[in-house]
Amino acid sequence: MPLTADQFHLGACYYPEHWDPSLWEDDLRRMKELHFSVIRIAEFAWSIFEPEEGVFSFELFDRFLDEAVKQDVKVILGTPTATPPAWLTQKYPEVLNVSFEGVTLQHGLRRHYNYSSPKYRELSARITLEMAKHYCDHPAVVGWQLDNEFNCEIGVYYADADHLAFREWLKAKYGTLEKLNAAWGAVFWNQTYSDWEQVFLPRPTPGGYQPNPHQALDEKRFISDNTISYAKLQADILRKHAPNQWVTTNGLFGHLDNHRMTDELLDFFSYDSYPQFSSISSDPNESNPLADRGWSLSLSTVRSISPNFCIMEQQSGPGGWVGKMDMPSPKPGQMRLWTYQSIAHGADMVLFFRWRTATFGNEIYWHGINDYHNRPNRRVREAGRIGAELSAAGNAIIGSRYQAEVAIVRDYDNEWDGEYDVWHGPGGWKSGREWFKALQRRHIPSDVCYMQRDTTVADLQRYSTLIYPHPAILRDETAALLEQYVQGGGTVIFGCRTGYKDENGHCYMRPFPGAAAQLCGITVEEFTKIKGNRKPTLMKWNDGVAELTSAEDFNDILAIESESVEIVAEYATDYYSGKPAVTRNRFGKGSAWYFGAVFTEAAAARIIGMLGLESPVAAWAELPPSVELAIREGEAGKLAFLLNYSEEPASIHLKQDKTDLLSGEKLSGVTELEPFGVVVLQVEPLS
Ligand code: GAL
Repeated sequence: MPLTADQFHLGACYYPEHWDPSLWEDDLRRMKELHFSVIRIAEFAWSIFEPEEGVFSFELFDRFLDEAVKQDVKVILGTPTATPPAWLTQKYPEVLNVSFEGVTLQHGLRRHYNYSSPKYRELSARITLEMAKHYCDHPAVVGWQLDNEFNCEIGVYYADADHLAFREWLKAKYGTLEKLNAAWGAVFWNQTYSDWEQVFLPRPTPGGYQPNPHQALDEKRFISDNTISYAKLQADILRKHAPNQWVTTNGLFGHLDNHRMTDELLDFFSYDSYPQFSSISSDPNESNPLADRGWSLSLSTVRSISPNFCIMEQQSGPGGWVGKMDMPSPKPGQMRLWTYQSIAHGADMVLFFRWRTATFGNEIYWHGINDYHNRPNRRVREAGRIGAELSAAGNAIIGSRYQAEVAIVRDYDNEWDGEYDVWHGPGGWKSGREWFKALQRRHIPSDVCYMQRDTTVADLQRYSTLIYPHPAILRDETAALLEQYVQGGGTVIFGCRTGYKDENGHCYMRPFPGAAAQLCGITVEEFTKIKGNRKPTLMKWNDGVAELTSAEDFNDILAIESESVEIVAEYATDYYSGKPAVTRNRFGKGSAWYFGAVFTEAAAARIIGMLGLESPVAAWAELPPSVELAIREGEAGKLAFLLNYSEEPASIHLKQDKTDLLSGEKLSGVTELEPFGVVVLQVEPLS
């Protein structure tokens, strides 16, 4: 079932079990006043549904759902498996997760379970089945959220059952120990296995966390498959017993191929959007960070999974956990800005986290729209403004798609291999961020595109330009696909460390960039990490601009192998000064760029200039750098979202008259966007 519903649904996460039932009716009534039409409930309430093993009770939630029906509020039900009850973990301690060091992770927070335990799978299936049977025809229930945030809190699993499941997964993948030994290069340091019982997930070694790198890569692939198979257990039950309600899950965490999970199991993907994390946790060494606007890169990743998605949790107040986290309060207008940030990137349904701040538990500082005192406040008023706007304008937005002609390419193998392999992993994230900043500040919308086994050239041809920063693992098949894309007229841009590993993570015995060497028309003569007492190096560009840019973190020193290659920049320092640093190879109708370092925003900007990439609104608008542009296009027309992330007003210059969908106002000439302000301009008249 697609997400596109009859209307734009706005709402909140609600916890009936946290409040006196005398509050329910008033809460739901006030939600309606704010134009909320949907809530999510129950995702942590297993002990309420099954207070004792095999004894089920729906009384509390039935009573609450009766109220929801009365007030005509739709409900998303969470399966409650993220928090198994105490009776369960006491009786079946084997369901608990175990840390890498071998410490059992006890009951007391959440996600205290592993996906492999047969007992946990059995009990998870049973609670899902009981809930599905009970609520499949409930008039308030529209859909289900599986569990809550797979792989949040912890994304590794070392219970006995996990070691056994990993072994079975390896048997299915490799068939024989001979093949496993070859894939893991087990002859190195005498790791050769002669019996399957000797094979485990990574375990502590004399070096601490120093697993065999090929084993570490397979571990992540196993965790992803294992998570998906656990999610499938629940999804299959819901499909069978509640066929008229949709199925989704929320969150974007590591060690999980969310694309495959969504394609195979879900109607659409949901995300939990907390932009304040981008502001409080940016790398202190990062230059010119985007702060909360940087969250748009995560939203772009979500869009690569589901072009139209649900925000199951939208930050609506200051965040904080007792003993773990503290965040500033969003300023006036900022919560509205963040809501439209989600919508600009493809959200067609948004639920605020949460209706009211909890008065007990670990999240007493994770604020909802309502404060503990439950009296009207600034955040409630802001939510009401959003509600009124979307109840009028939301239907013109839903179903439309974000438009981009540039994509930042990623793949799971490199993300997972790069977690452990510091020679390429950190560069991937940094380069993606730097490119995103350069594109954002020039108002060039971009997508994230995941390279998957089933990616086709047609998928890639949606973009004029692909930035694939550091695909260290590059299969010949993927390189061939990229060759086809470039042949046909596309531009691909690689960074250092491209193409030197096969899918097991072994280095090719070929000149770098291995599988991409022909496409790029260069080889890497030598390379070095820029670190410690190695002075930062610089590049000099042949684009007529004198300014040098830095060649950060890693330098590949390039050798030209084909006459079709042009040197775009050369190193300007160190013993390889004058050697090629950036090249462009004409290949068929397109071109392949090789950039010898980790990208910086300045370098990305130079390439954007040389490619002549422009903002799609350049003909009719001039926007300051603090404003994000996003365009959504659908049957009804094209909408340009302008989002001001600054607490100062932003001046925009419109060369054509446009109407703001949210206020209905006509805008022309120089217009001020209020601090944290948003307008949604109708680019083409809506029908
Ligand atoms: C999410 C989670 C919620 C709540 C929220 C704020 O990750 O799904 O249950 O914990 O964060 O911390």
